[in-house]
Amino acid sequence: MIDENRVLPSGVAADVALAEVRGLRAGDRPTHGGRLFAYVYDPAVPGLDELTAAAHRESAHVNGLDPTAFPSLLAMENALVAAAGRVLGAGPGTTAPDVVGSVTSGGTESLILAVKTARDAHPEIAAPRIVVPSSAHAAFAKAAHYLRVALDVVPVSPDTLRPDPAAMAAAIRPETVLVACSAPSYAHGVVDPVAEIAAAAAEAGVRCHVDACFGGWTLPYLRRLGEPVPPFDFAVPGVTSISVDLHKYAYAPKGVSVLLHRDATLRAPQYFAYADWPGYTMINPVIASTRSGGPIAAAYATVRHLGDDGYLRLAAVTRDAVAGLADAVRAVDGLRLMAEPESTVVCFTATAGGPDLFVLVDELTARGWHTQPQLSYAGLPASVHLTVTAAVAPRVAEFGPDLAEAVAAALAAGPVRLPAELAALVGALTPEALTPELVLGLAAALGLGSGSGTGPLPERMALVNTLLDVAPPSLRERLLVEFVGLLQRPAWGSDG
Ligand SMILES: Cc1ncc(COP(=O)(O)O)c(C=O)c1O
Repeated sequence: MIDENRVLPSGVAADVALAEVRGLRAGDRPTHGGRLFAYVYDPAVPGLDELTAAAHRESAHVNGLDPTAFPSLLAMENALVAAAGRVLGAGPGTTAPDVVGSVTSGGTESLILAVKTARDAHPEIAAPRIVVPSSAHAAFAKAAHYLRVALDVVPVSPDTLRPDPAAMAAAIRPETVLVACSAPSYAHGVVDPVAEIAAAAAEAGVRCHVDACFGGWTLPYLRRLGEPVPPFDFAVPGVTSISVDLHKYAYAPKGVSVLLHRDATLRAPQYFAYADWPGYTMINPVIASTRSGGPIAAAYATVRHLGDDGYLRLAAVTRDAVAGLADAVRAVDGLRLMAEPESTVVCFTATAGGPDLFVLVDELTARGWHTQPQLSYAGLPASVHLTVTAAVAPRVAEFGPDLAEAVAAALAAGPVRLPAELAALVGALTPEALTPELVLGLAAALGLGSGSGTGPLPERMALVNTLLDVAPPSLRERLLVEFVGLLQRPAWGSDG
């Protein structure tokens, strides 16, 4: 632990500061090694981390605020946009020769900008709306919230986990400025019926955004490897914009996504310009103004180093890992896949009489496998999500036996029983009724922030997840905001 109050008072030697960072990092989940199935994307390519660190260092102090002052950044951004366009069916000789784009800080920023651009293309619409499937990434809801755009959510089928294109079409209203879909969705890794949805949007004269943030850099390579990937990119008529995150399956370090538009006219409302003050005229294509060149240079070096052949090879390795993990799930009684894998996600749930999934997640964690629990939602059961990257491949053989063992342990332990008073409390609680005292009491009852685990969370999370699972989404949001708020405050008081 570091004493937060000692960070500023007097400087320390560089090696001391670095040792502190390293000491803190030791408590994190493992970013490398193929045992963490969310948050990180590891190609396990020797030397890549050293390359990206060096590239980042070269450009860390370069400012993307003004592309004329730092043409190096302009050149790298244009190269990344061109590469993303190529991967996604655009460029010379395609049906989308005029694609343009911007480099953003991540998928959420790309989606916020896609919504903003669509909204600002229609200043005459006083109360704009967007249509998304319920499986669309939460960043669309964030965009709608930030931009005061109404969100029309079309449920996905519990069987296919996709929206019905006719229902998407029916949800389009005169005020709709954007229709969105995923290729693939994050939660289950399925590709929406993009061609039908884009056709409906085009017929209504509405923009269609394909959120390929997660899998946009692997689906084309999986297709080249012979997988049956449905059309989802600029080859599909009616698709007006696509987002793809380089910090996901392009395997770049964090902080880089690309937002592409079919042409410059469609992109125009994305820019913000302001000259009505005494300082420099601000021209921003993205949300941030000052931007570090570090992540962009690191992404550029990654894409140049791995290249088309590298991505094809990594996609093949990942595909095999996905198949191996899916087989491991199929081999265990009590589990079933939520969907047959069609991208790089393996997502499973429990069958009747199967294990408590939240206990299973804890049992897997205890065996060094860090999976992501997903709460039940609108008729979809709770599930376990595995984002699979190339680094997982050498681990696949170890996963199957550990999964079987973890399921047996979870069955032996039995399901989590919420203490009656907690169940009653959550059953009666509304977000508005949450007081600071109630939050503190709940956090204590759940062991949050108590330091009983190695970090701010208890070692076993099944109780917390069970409680959240019985709460409606609005209460989940409020509880988690409060819990995270409790963690995100400095430890004032021990000055010395
Ligand atoms: C499909 C999809 N869209 C958007 C995002 C948001 O990306 P970010 O976390 O980079 O903001 C994600 C992240 O997982 C995603 O999977």
